[in-house]
Amino acid sequence: MSEGRNIVLGVAGSIAAYKAADLTSRLVKEKFNVTVIMTESATRLVGERTFFTLSRNKVVTSLWELPEWQPGHIELARKASLLVIAPATANIIGKIASGIADDALSTYAMSHSGTILVAPAMNARMWRNPAVRDNCGKLMKRGLVFIGPGKGSLACGDEDDGRMSEPVEILARIKELTRKRGPG
Ligand SMILES: Cc1cc2nc3c(=O)[nH]c(=O)nc-3n(C[C@H](O)[C@H](O)[C@H](O)COP(=O)(O)O)c2cc1C
Repeated sequence: MSEGRNIVLGVAGSIAAYKAADLTSRLVKEKFNVTVIMTESATRLVGERTFFTLSRNKVVTSLWELPEWQPGHIELARKASLLVIAPATANIIGKIASGIADDALSTYAMSHSGTILVAPAMNARMWRNPAVRDNCGKLMKRGLVFIGPGKGSLACGDEDDGRMSEPVEILARIKELTRKRGPG
């Protein structure tokens, strides 16, 4: 498997986490090798087994449960050129913006030197919060790529900004980003 086909999909604790399962399935159909890293909150919303079955790869949920001698995030960072965080919570956006690495996903994001695609999903009030705005601004300045969120019906019942982009849109952006780097 060439480097450009190795993708790490970070799934954070948003209700939109179920859509990451659809994204995983679409990526595998497009012959990407997907390694899923779930935050602890994400595992409360969607079962790890779902991502294991769809990706056909071991799902990373902890920094501490890897059988290899080498910390898994370093080996993964060597192989994968694209990290997609979908859904991205206000929390993971804030952690990456501040350089916090206190779980498997934030630690991986810190060691990843390739492109990072962020698909935020949150309640509109959270999305408009000045801290979230500042953090997104910081990440954009650092070259992270954002997709969405769009306007639509949110889990809280509101019709507003904060809805994660649809898996087909995220897939199209991933294909674009991996194509730019060439077939490698
Ligand atoms: C049912 C439920 C849905 C949630 N949805 C979101 C969401 O869409 N976006 C968000 O930023 N936080 C959401 N949260 C809050 C996050 O789960 C919480 O901030 C958590 O600390 C995020 O951790 P993580 O970034 O490590 O996954 C939700 C919480 C619950 C209980």
